[in-house]
Amino acid sequence: MKLLVTGGAGFVGAVVSRLLLDAGHTVVVLDDLSRNDAAQVPADAQFVQGRVQDAAEILTPEAGFDGVLHFAGLISAGESMSLPELHWEANTRAGLNLIDAMRAAGVRRLIFSSTAACYGEPSELPLTENAVTMPINTYGATKLAVDLAIASEARAHKLAAVSLRYFNVAGAYVGADGTVIGERHDPETHLIPIALEVAAGKREKMPMFGDDYPTPDGTCIRDYIHVTDLARAHLRALEAATPGEHRIYNLGVGTGFSNKQIIDAVREVTGADVPVEWLPRRPGDPAALYASSAKAQAELGWTPEKTEVADIVADAWTFYRRQN
Ligand SMILES: NC(=O)c1ccc[n+]([C@@H]2O[C@H](COP(=O)([O-])OP(=O)(O)OC[C@H]3O[C@@H](n4cnc5c(N)ncnc54)[C@H](O)[C@@H]3O)[C@@H](O)[C@H]2O)c1
Repeated sequence: MKLLVTGGAGFVGAVVSRLLLDAGHTVVVLDDLSRNDAAQVPADAQFVQGRVQDAAEILTPEAGFDGVLHFAGLISAGESMSLPELHWEANTRAGLNLIDAMRAAGVRRLIFSSTAACYGEPSELPLTENAVTMPINTYGATKLAVDLAIASEARAHKLAAVSLRYFNVAGAYVGADGTVIGERHDPETHLIPIALEVAAGKREKMPMFGDDYPTPDGTCIRDYIHVTDLARAHLRALEAATPGEHRIYNLGVGTGFSNKQIIDAVREVTGADVPVEWLPRRPGDPAALYASSAKAQAELGWTPEKTEVADIVADAWTFYRRQN
């Protein structure tokens, strides 16, 4: 298939582009490079620097695209609270423009990067796709708005659509040929890359928010999914997408690791001492958040394979050392 990958210069988009190319698809990456440079775009993909809001310029009927995988967006929940207008623009307005451009060009297959943040405080654990969606930050609201628009588009205009709700994406893609693709968010807000910076001596201490949660070791529990496992689900979703249907799948491994377990794994993998600075709880951080991905496993025939915390951290460390 000829596929447009928005946000393909980013962490997840670059890994999925790699797997799509390896599976024989043609990939055109669209990214405005607002949050990344183009270094991780696979060399065998075509790269167009531009905004998703202007996707109609390349998504023409003549261009012959068979589908779109939409990763582009802003992902910091903290930033979404202080600069909501940026997130409504880059996530929601861009998403709506993309849906319009796809309709105009007759491109009827869409895979969308949705998020666990659509659910907000978990109403059940593990979280299924039937859980209440009540985002507690602007980031989650901007993504849920696009999910709702996709549902209407599928119903009214026969779009074949799949929204994949990721939990915490982690690790790095490590290819047999030595290619390594990892996460480089700026500013970095994710636990593992920050802990690796502490292990490498680039930061002094690991800020940890709260050690008095009702969990076995008192720290928050999150569901970490290896980026290569996550990426494989996109290829399955592309095949499963059906005209007139908007499917939603949670992508996690179904169990969680606590913040303390992650720090211990970083110490073990890097051999470094990772000094921790204990801070009060942050508002809006649920004690535990993990997915049921039973629906994705049953309907997409997908199973996460790299589920050990040490393996996830080891791949992230391989990427970190390549970069620094
Ligand atoms: N990383 C995670 O843990 C996680 C979890 C849940 C959901 N997601 C979703 O997955 C997607 C990819 O996440 P990521 O970790 O790869 O993020 P990333 O920041 O590495 O990549 C996003 C890319 O989108 C580009 N971009 C942003 N706004 C754009 C616009 N308007 N037009 C064109 N390009 C634009 C950025 O330059 C960047 O390269 C996001 O939509 C995010 O909401 C990620």
